[in-house]
This record gives sequence, structure tokens and C-alpha cells, in this order.
Amino acid sequence: MDKLNALLIKKKISTSFIGREVYFYPTLTSTNIAAEGFLGKGASDGTLVICESQTKGRGRSKNFWHSPPGGLWFSLILYIQDKRNFSGITLLASYCIVEVLREKLSLLSYLKWPNDIILNNKKLGGVLAEIKFFQKKRYLILGIGLNVNLKKFHPELENTAISLYQEKKRNLSRVNLLKNILENFEEKYLIFLQKGLKFILPKIKGVSNYLKKEVEIIYQDNILKGIAWDLNPQGALILKLNKNNFKEIYSGERLIIKE
Ligand code: BTN
Repeated sequence: MDKLNALLIKKKISTSFIGREVYFYPTLTSTNIAAEGFLGKGASDGTLVICESQTKGRGRSKNFWHSPPGGLWFSLILYIQDKRNFSGITLLASYCIVEVLREKLSLLSYLKWPNDIILNNKKLGGVLAEIKFFQKKRYLILGIGLNVNLKKFHPELENTAISLYQEKKRNLSRVNLLKNILENFEEKYLIFLQKGLKFILPKIKGVSNYLKKEVEIIYQDNILKGIAWDLNPQGALILKLNKNNFKEIYSGERLIIKE
């Protein structure tokens, strides 16, 4: 398996601030938790915390994120200097990954709102963005998990999860993949800071696999049913509940596509 370490990552990546400061660990509870520990300790904007395996990987809605050796499990610390609405950042990061998978690996992957990276109708990866406060400053911890060189999954995940190894039948270079993702993300994040999500919304919609389909969404302990009509400029899902009734959903627990 390809080895990961901080020096190798730093050497490989040509970014101006994302992933310039790198902390690599063989094992962590969670890179999101470890990244939080760096807040207020002088870590630079874009600091990357990455590990080989996580013992308490966190998914959305407090789910456990299976993170054995061989995947890409990392978090970025991003400084938030203004009152900007960051709700679109999950979609932006997820889109950057889908674009890299399509353009660099010729894999027709999709984005399922708001954070799922989908390949062959199975989950290949996900993004967990968490806002944290430290000494009255706001930070964003952007956690990304991608099943890269995982040979197999626990039986309970087998039908819903997939890895790049399973699709390509070979190990992939995680450092190259990380380089492509971080370089793509930096380029688009800088535009996002200036213009918001609008500039990339048509592209995000173009790789979305749920639009105009019948969906169910778990929202504040209820199940909402409707048509996933569109995304608004902030990245909220516009759900058509019935003929004249639309609802904008900024964060829902899980989107289920009814085929
Ligand atoms: C999801 O789809 O539920 C989000 C999964 C996010 C997993 C990544 S792995 C690296 C980072 N550290 C964590 O504990 N979670 C995120």
C-alpha cells in the first residue's frame, strides 16, 4: 500500500495555503477531533490533519464512519473571517471530489445532496463540515473521507459502500488523489469566498443524481416526501411537497431517492 507522511504530502501538493501545514498520524480517534485540538495554537489557515486510520471516525448525524487503513481520512482547518453563510461549503467540497474522480480517474461519480460521493449507487465518500468556536473566533473544520484502497467492507456496509479499489481492481496513489483534491478545492474555495456558491451551482447540479426525482428526507425527526426540485443559491435543497408548496431545506439528515 502507498505510504502517507507529512513530508511526502507537502512536497507533492502545489497549493498556496490549503495543506501547506500538515500533521500526519498513523491512528487518530478522528481527524475532525484532532483538528479541533489545533485551534488557537497558531495552526495556519488551510492546515491539513490526516491519518491512516480512525478509531472513532465521525459521519453526519452522529453516525460512525468506518475508517480502516487504506482510505483518505483528513480534515482541513479553515478560518472564517466574516459573517458569511458557509452552508454551501459541504456541497463545494463534495463537488471538487466528484470533479477529480471524473476528470482524473474517469469515474462517473455523483454528488447526493448535501455531502455524499456516490459511485455505482453506493457511497464512496462523504464530507463533514463542523463550525467551531475558539476564543470568540469561528473556524470551520472540513472533514473528508474517501474509501480509496479498502479491499472489503463489514457485511452490514457491503451493499451500500464502495471503494476505488473495488471499482478499479488496483490500489491507487492516495497522495496523488489528495493533491488533486486539495488543488481543486483551493482554486474553487478562493472563488467561493468572493462570490458564494452561485458560480459553481450549475456544475454542482450537473453531477447531482437526485434532482427532479421523488425523494424522502429525514428532517427534524420527520420524513418529508416530495420532488427534489432544485438547489437555491446557498445550496439548500428546494423540495416540492405538492403543486404549490415548496420547502427550502438547509440541512437534512438523509436524502433517500425513490427510483
Ligand atoms: C458522512 O458522509 O457521513 C461524512 C463522513 C465524513 C468522514 C470524514 S473521515 C475524516 C473526517 N474525520 C471524521 O471523523 N470524519 C471525517
